[in-house]
Amino acid sequence: MGDNLILSFRPDLQIKEEAGKIYLQSPVRSLVCQRVSRGLRQLMKTLTTGSGSEDFLSEPVFKEDGAGEVAKFYYHLQQFIERGFISYNVMMEQEILAIYTPFSAAPLYNEKLFKQKQRYRLSRFTYSRRDGQEIILESPLANGRVVLTHWLAAAVLHLLAEACTAGEISMQFPALPKKSLQLFLELLLSAGMLEEVDDAGISAGEGDEVLQQWEFHDLLFHARSRLGPHEQPVGGTYRFWGRIAPLPAVKNPMSGERIKLYRPDMEKLREDDYPFSLVLEERKSIRDYADEPISVQQLGEFLYRSARIKELIKANPPAGLLYEASYRPYPGGGAAYELEIYLAVNECEGLPGGLYHYDPWQHELEKLTTRTSEVEGLLKYCSNAAGLKELPPVSLHITARFQRVAWKYQSLTYSVILKDVGALCQTLYLVATAMDLAPTAIGSGPAKLLCRIAGLNYLQESAVGEFILGNKRI
Ligand SMILES: Cc1cc2nc3c(=O)[nH]c(=O)nc-3n(C[C@H](O)[C@H](O)[C@H](O)COP(=O)(O)O)c2cc1C
Repeated sequence: MGDNLILSFRPDLQIKEEAGKIYLQSPVRSLVCQRVSRGLRQLMKTLTTGSGSEDFLSEPVFKEDGAGEVAKFYYHLQQFIERGFISYNVMMEQEILAIYTPFSAAPLYNEKLFKQKQRYRLSRFTYSRRDGQEIILESPLANGRVVLTHWLAAAVLHLLAEACTAGEISMQFPALPKKSLQLFLELLLSAGMLEEVDDAGISAGEGDEVLQQWEFHDLLFHARSRLGPHEQPVGGTYRFWGRIAPLPAVKNPMSGERIKLYRPDMEKLREDDYPFSLVLEERKSIRDYADEPISVQQLGEFLYRSARIKELIKANPPAGLLYEASYRPYPGGGAAYELEIYLAVNECEGLPGGLYHYDPWQHELEKLTTRTSEVEGLLKYCSNAAGLKELPPVSLHITARFQRVAWKYQSLTYSVILKDVGALCQTLYLVATAMDLAPTAIGSGPAKLLCRIAGLNYLQESAVGEFILGNKRI
């Protein structure tokens, strides 16, 4: 690897010594070193306080433990590399050009990949962002991350938007030593951030039928919202506990103009309702509406059976419940129930057209506005999405109060929210079927328009699902 590539412990590696053993801990992997020789201790000291090429690192080990211990040096170094404890620093004389830290158990750096005459281009999945005080390079396909420590590294990336050889890059940046550039390109290749481009200008990734069908944001979301090629914590970490108060289970009132909704007799429904299997088998999307509009009583029954709060659960930190929760007819991740329902009403008997918010605790509608052209815009969007000739009788716009979930979960917040939308949608479908109504889910919607009409802050609460409803034509 030479003096241009030097190894160090990753900066966030925790090291402590107890009773003659040395414990090493990265965000995801650990190692206990027993019977630590003077040479191994020296190796760890060098990797922590400074860094060096393999040759540089091995010298003091041989001096302390004797040349016969050469195999042990490589064994220990390999242990560190396999656990992702080692960062590779590409040097540019005394300065560092970039640092690559592979994730644990990632394939090792492979300097044989690079070809001098080959043309390379950045993968379309590679992206750069600020993390703390660093500019980093990541990709959902990568096995590690790169820190761009020198502006020349960022400048090289700029050229790599188009396919080019190392020689072509060198011509643009003569101050960048050729060996450093080559190591940097090798490192990006090893990380899966750079692709070879053939004479026709096609890279292996672009020619791949599977990869072609992945959009950048979908693959990033998939990779980062599950355990996988990253080192972020995944799950209920409560990282804002003690710093930011969790949002209440029920939203503050949105309007003084409130409409009490009909509550069905659930005991009677248990006796008279269609059997479950019939409802499940009959459930389907219906986009053909009866001439007689849906009534406010039907809307009340529909919302009560599918989305009301059945029970509010107060936060109880000593018992492990750190936030207010609730129970509703549909399941919800963490019982956080971040979803809110807004109704754009076109035609409903007993309810004037307009936009309403459903209060699931009081089982009331809160009137937000009359039937403006913007409310019609919501209905129109849904009409187009469902291929209707007219506006739907009612469209439901499901928002998420994102921080209800983000306060508890890390990495998977948005994926939990979308799963909750799915659970709610199926419940809306089943209740509508049991009530002989006409339901259809809608795949996307105008998130910003709803925010504008309802006065919502897009980052706090915006639309994540849509649904249309009416009376079924019999
Ligand atoms: C998440 C989701 C999004 C949907 N988006 C739309 C849509 O935008 N327009 C539409 O007409 N139907 C939409 N549908 C309804 C599907 O087209 C329908 O469920 C599917 O064709 C199966 O038919 P069925 O519901 O009658 O069983 C959606 C369904 C789901 C679950």
